[in-house]
Amino acid sequence: MSLRWGDISIDTVQVETTRDCNLACPGCLRTLRKGMGRWSDDRMSAALFSRILNHLPACRVLILNGTGEPMLNPEIADIVRQARDSGKFQGITFNSNGLARGVDAYLDVARAGLGFLSISVDSLTQAVADKVRAGTKVDKLAGRIGELARALPIPITITSVVCRENLLDIGETLAKLNDLGRFTVFLTDWSDVAQLDFLDPMARRLDDKERAFLAALVTKLGPQLPNLDLVQTQPALRGKADRCSAPFRHPFVDAEGYLTPCCTLTDAHHYGQVSIAETPLLEALGLPQPARWLEGYALAEPLACRGCQHAIRR
Ligand SMILES: C[S@@+](CC[C@H](N)C(=O)[O-])C[C@H]1O[C@@H](n2cnc3c(N)ncnc32)[C@H](O)[C@@H]1O
Ligand code: SF4
Repeated sequence: MSLRWGDISIDTVQVETTRDCNLACPGCLRTLRKGMGRWSDDRMSAALFSRILNHLPACRVLILNGTGEPMLNPEIADIVRQARDSGKFQGITFNSNGLARGVDAYLDVARAGLGFLSISVDSLTQAVADKVRAGTKVDKLAGRIGELARALPIPITITSVVCRENLLDIGETLAKLNDLGRFTVFLTDWSDVAQLDFLDPMARRLDDKERAFLAALVTKLGPQLPNLDLVQTQPALRGKADRCSAPFRHPFVDAEGYLTPCCTLTDAHHYGQVSIAETPLLEALGLPQPARWLEGYALAEPLACRGCQHAIRR
């Protein structure tokens, strides 16, 4: 095996504990593929997770969501507990839409060993939420964030995905979050999942000017929102030297237990359907098909990445 750039150095492993969801966000891969009849709402059993866990390397962070709402997995607390008891991870977390189950269910996962919870909030304005997080009742979400902030014994962070549909509203939404508690808010770019599937672009992605506007807004609002720590996640990647190293550092295991390159390329065919229930993850990356894929990735960004927020901007 002659893997090069980035050679394998696992920082984070992401395991998709469910592909089911209570919302239908228009920018989400599940919504897109469900609309085309190409999606199954699988949930990973705690028994399958246990076999996968045995084959994961120790690393900094374990993320227990992929596409789908992890709190809809009825065994999520058991899964978190197993991960915590393994002692393999410095931190265990997942993103949730905050609305899938009641506060008690979130308390159960916190007590089972979740290190911190990230709640996704792209807008707290109903008309905008309808466009970016369809199915969200914003009053319920705001109330829930306040309740969780008071009830959970673990930190809560907020993830806000910013696209053209919510860019002009994001200041308003941040002001509302500031009234709900103290949070770190990660403002991240939107990925065009339609392009990942080689369909026409959805044209919601921020261009350079809009990104600069967001950066200026974050700088201006920071001092006015003392309860929030605002972090605009990654700079736009520009050239070869800047490339995303996720396939070498942040592999993904889908709800059936198959290994994939990263949390954007979540189809098992890239690596030829290698099951992490059967094969240790580090060994799996050295098998012929994953190794060939990684060697190709090391040489040049594949077409499959177009549409990803981390792909090089041209
Ligand atoms: C796919 S969701 C799954 C977890 C959970 N259901 C949620 O919404 O938080 C994981 C994260 O991806 C984000 N996300 C969804 N669609 C996205 C897109 N097109 N581009 C970038 N991030 C996206 C969500 O907002 C969320 O923060
Ligand atoms: S809540 Fe998460 S998983 Fe559900 S549709 Fe939205 S982005 Fe996708």
